[in-house]
Amino acid sequence: MKKLLGMTIVFGATMVAASALYAAASDMPDWAYGVPPPGQRPNPPVRDDGKMLTLPGSDLQFTLNKIRGRVDNDTPNRTSPADWFPNDHPPLPKIVAEGDQSRGIVACSLCHYPNGKGRTENASPAGLPRDYIIRQLHDMKDDMRVSGERRKQNTQQMVSFAKAMTDEEIVQAATYFSSLKWTPWVRVQETNTVPKTRSQGGMMIALTGDQAGTEPIGNRIVEVPVDAVHTETLRDPHSSFIAYVPVGAVAKGKALVTTGGNGKTIACATCHGDDLNGIGSVPGLAGRLASYNARQLYDFKIGARHGDMADLMHKVAANLSGDDIINITAYLASLPAPATVAYTKTAAQ
Ligand code: HEC
Ligand code: HEC
Repeated sequence: MKKLLGMTIVFGATMVAASALYAAASDMPDWAYGVPPPGQRPNPPVRDDGKMLTLPGSDLQFTLNKIRGRVDNDTPNRTSPADWFPNDHPPLPKIVAEGDQSRGIVACSLCHYPNGKGRTENASPAGLPRDYIIRQLHDMKDDMRVSGERRKQNTQQMVSFAKAMTDEEIVQAATYFSSLKWTPWVRVQETNTVPKTRSQGGMMIALTGDQAGTEPIGNRIVEVPVDAVHTETLRDPHSSFIAYVPVGAVAKGKALVTTGGNGKTIACATCHGDDLNGIGSVPGLAGRLASYNARQLYDFKIGARHGDMADLMHKVAANLSGDDIINITAYLASLPAPATVAYTKTAAQ
């Protein structure tokens, strides 16, 4: 009986942990996790036909497979992804440029781009503090940072890369990405109507052709590439994003961010620095993608991110509603980025 009781308690504890993780679904910013709209049919896979593709401003040409870091259409074999603008960042560490197929690590530059600007469905490591990046990769290794949305497969992949990385590679990648400056990447527009969208691997993209149209924004942010072909097909690391946000969101977000909203949350500058560009090992928030920040606030709120320092964010996020998360992240995205130029090449390089 005692044993049975023990098992019951263990089972009960697991249930509580699981329901804490997936509770409060109504406040979940599902728009930010890129969950496909109901009924969305998958797009047919796009095959490389051997054609060389070009990008304005770059002298280089690549096949589609090289752009997406694949050796060919039919095997999972990987190669280093295209680097359209090798002069706009310092030399890439091996792990960032190539990953390591033998350990299942995909090149960081594929998803986060060689310049670390990243996309809505992943993250933007450029310009984050080195110690912060190191801590994140260790938190992922130690199962203290997962996604609050079970279907978000690319975060699960990211965790598997962190687990396979050596301490040395973690330091190399963190040193590299933190050496880049954060520059403008998203424009915020308040609006009542937005383009109809689909989710492409977690990134929302405006529909084109016969399917194109508009719809009411409702309670969400719709953050899409300014140019879907540049971002999705060409993986152009200079092609940025636009965040359509509900009318009034920026002002409401400003009030919460700057005052903490009468105890609902805590003024962000207390820890993130006066202009929210980060300080010490606390990351910058200003001018960064709304969907990424919204996912993180929800992940902190439900404890999916629960490393030692992440616990400081739990109190900040605990009482935020879905609307608060929209307003806060709209305001943060509307703030100026700390720099205009990410990197200047010196003669030595
Ligand atoms: C398959 C795409 C993919 C690849 C390749 C990839 N990442 Fe990520 N990365 C992600 C996703 C997805 C997230 C998390 C997004 C989230 O939590 O919502 C992420 C998050 C991160 C973060 C956290 C950023 C922050 O602001 O806290 C860091 C740091 C990071 N990645 C570093 C790396 C490094 C280093 C590599 C190469 C070894 C790499 N990533 C390769 C998809 C990728
Ligand atoms: C008590 C200190 C503190 C306050 C106040 C605070 N933060 Fe944070 N925040 C942190 C720390 C520390 C981290 C890094 C957590 C980690 O290392 O996992 C963080 C991380 C974050 C991240 C994740 C960034 C990324 O790149 O993944 C977001 C988003 C964020 N904070 C938003 C906010 C917002 C919005 C506010 C104000 C409403 C706020 N924070 C107030 C300490 C704080």
